[in-house]
Parts: sequence; structure tokens; C-alpha cells
Amino acid sequence: MAANPFTFDRPLPADELVDRVAELEQLLAMAAAGQSVRLAAPRRYGKTTLINALAEAAWQAHEMVPTVVDLSGVTTLDDVVLRITRAYERGLDRGRTRSVWRSLRRRGTTSAQVGVPGVASLGAGVAAPAASSSLAALHDALELPVRVHERTGQRCLVVLDEFQDLFTVADGLDGVLRSHLQHQSASASYVFAGSQPSMMRALFGDRRRPLFEQARALTLEPLPAADLADFVEARLAAAGRDGLLELVDGLVEVSAGHPQRAMLLAHMLFEQADDDPDALPHAVAAALREAGDGLEQTWRFLGDGKRRVLGALAAGHPELTGKAALAHTGHAKGTQAGIRDALAADTLITRDAAGAWRFVDPFLALWLRQER
Ligand SMILES: Nc1ncnc2c1ncn2[C@@H]1O[C@H](COP(=O)(O)OP(=O)(O)O)[C@@H](O)[C@H]1O
Ligand SMILES: [Mg+2]
Repeated sequence: MAANPFTFDRPLPADELVDRVAELEQLLAMAAAGQSVRLAAPRRYGKTTLINALAEAAWQAHEMVPTVVDLSGVTTLDDVVLRITRAYERGLDRGRTRSVWRSLRRRGTTSAQVGVPGVASLGAGVAAPAASSSLAALHDALELPVRVHERTGQRCLVVLDEFQDLFTVADGLDGVLRSHLQHQSASASYVFAGSQPSMMRALFGDRRRPLFEQARALTLEPLPAADLADFVEARLAAAGRDGLLELVDGLVEVSAGHPQRAMLLAHMLFEQADDDPDALPHAVAAALREAGDGLEQTWRFLGDGKRRVLGALAAGHPELTGKAALAHTGHAKGTQAGIRDALAADTLITRDAAGAWRFVDPFLALWLRQER
């Protein structure tokens, strides 16, 4: 049997994206123009996939040096510095820019005493003196686009993926970042990607924060059903799985355009027999099993109030402060509205284009209906 063509557990290669054409074009144009962007979308919505495609395109189209820094789960300043440096090393590891990296590395990270504004705003989270040398190293790492630009005349595309995790290291790092950003208009364009839209809004939309209005906002919507269906159908057909083709629209509907859920479902459908009349329900069940641990964990961390409101939504009451939903939860209207907004901030629920509430992850709804 042919290898399963549907990847659901890691970012996709740049040439395998469903749609995201407009987003990619917009990101590329802004990067080339030196405009920084913040990209906010829930987990598994295709941020890293899109970023990798952008990095490749920025290099191909504009010879921008792509520097993709993955900040997920970072806990120390040293680790931040290491991840940034590695990202430059990877970004420069192509063509004639290779020698630039060697030259930068030879010079190492020096200048321990940089009097850059922002340091003072670092709170008690960073202790002296070990931290002060780490902080100096961070300042050096954040100056790398300037060094690269001096040597090559090329602009860097600096992507900080899972940006919000930077703030588990220390408060005030947005001030540190700002102090570099503001004089890098010729040498760098930044993309800040984050899985917590509410936190991204707080960082960039609050005039008391250093990064206020430093980056234009871009959000990722669900994948368009028609593009998704074309993609899945083409791959099934290419593998000679014609018996499954008529199930594709049903699959896309179950996925609700959620990128990772769609690929997981397609992967599981591919595993079913062509002549199985229940291939789609079997694929859905297999996909839910695969996702089960994660869903279980999400659920376990939720308080009773949030569980009830999600229960109401799963039971078919999308008007969350309407009579039926209130009767389902037993909450007062104001309480319910507060919980609803907290769930939205957690990216568990969102409003669709028509203003109705829905689950961000369609599997959470399926799982709730199945378990309870
Ligand atoms: N444009 C896309 N087309 C098809 N599948 C996608 C797309 N973007 C994401 N996916 C699917 O979603 C999964 C998670 O994507 P990823 O980029 O890692 O999300 P994020 O970085 O937002 O958590 C990928 O493994 C892939 O299966
Ligand atoms: Mg990611």
C-alpha cells in the first residue's frame, strides 16, 4: 500500500499547503516592505506551516535571510539566546551567506556592558549577576540582523514563533525587544506568531506596553472547505483510492476547516478499506482516539463553570447567554457571559462569521458528545 500522504503531527513542507495563498502574499509583501506582523491563531491552526512557507518564499523572492526562532516551552534567557543564534545559523546556511555566519561566530557574543534601554524594566524575574551576562548575550543576539545587514546588505526575516512563551522567562522582554526593533527598519522585518490571540492583543494593542502598535495584526481563519476537499481528493485519487472519494465532502464537514483536524481525519480515512461502508465513521473514531489524550488534558484543566458552558454548546445551544443555554448550565446571565469570554480567550470557542459561537476544535465537541 502507498505511504499515507496526510501529515497531521508536524508542520507541513512549504509546497504542501492547502490555500493560505492570500495570507502568504500579504505576509511576504509586508516583510519585503519592512513591516512587522503579528500572526495570532489557536494551536494547530497552521502558524508554523505558514511561517515556514513564508521563510522559504522570502528567501526565494527577496533574498531575505529567514530566521525562524521557535520559542515554544522556553524557560531561561540562555535558552532564548541559543534558539535565536541557532535560527540565524540555519537561516544563513545557504549559498554565499554561509561565510557570514562563520565570520559572526568567530567574533562571538562580546559587549557585555550594553546600556540599552529596556534592561531597567526587567523585573525580579531576572537575577544578577549570571542573568546580566545572559541578558547581554540576548542583546547581542537581537542585534544579529544589523550585523548580517552590514555584511550582506540583505534584510533578515525574523520570526518569533510561539512568541507568548518568551514571557514565561521574564517580564519586560518586550521592552528589550523594542529597544532593538526600533532601529532595525533597514535590517529586519519581524513576524510574531502566537497561540493566544488575547495575549497577543494585550502585548501589541495596549499603549502602555513597549510593543504597542509595533506590528500589524493578521489572523488565520479555518481552511476553505472547497480547497480542503480538492486537496484531500487529489491525494486519495493519486493513491488510487477511488472508493473513498465520495466521502471527502463529509470529512471536510466534520473537520470544520480546522487544519490539523482535517489532516488527521484524512490520514485516518486513508487507513480504512475502500469497500468499508462505514469508512468515514471509522476514520472519525480513529481520529478521536488519536486526539483523545490531548482532549482529556484540556478538559482536566477546566473548572466546573467552563465545563458547563462547553457542555451547553456541545448540546446544541450556540446562543450561550440565551434561555436554553442558561437552563443547561444553571448560571446567571452575567456569569455565563464572563465564562464565555474566558473560553474565547482560551481559544476554546470562537464566533463564526454569522456571530454564532462554535468550538475552535470540532473534536472537542465530538468528544464531549461521546463521553458524556
Ligand atoms: N495550510 C495547511 N494545509 C493543510 N494542512 C495544514 C495547513 N496548515 C496546517 N496544517 C495541518 O495542521 C497541522 C498543524 O500545523 P502547524 O503549522 O504545526 O500549526 P501551529 O503552528 O499553528 O500549531 C499540520 O501538521 C498539518 O497537518
Ligand atoms: Mg507551531
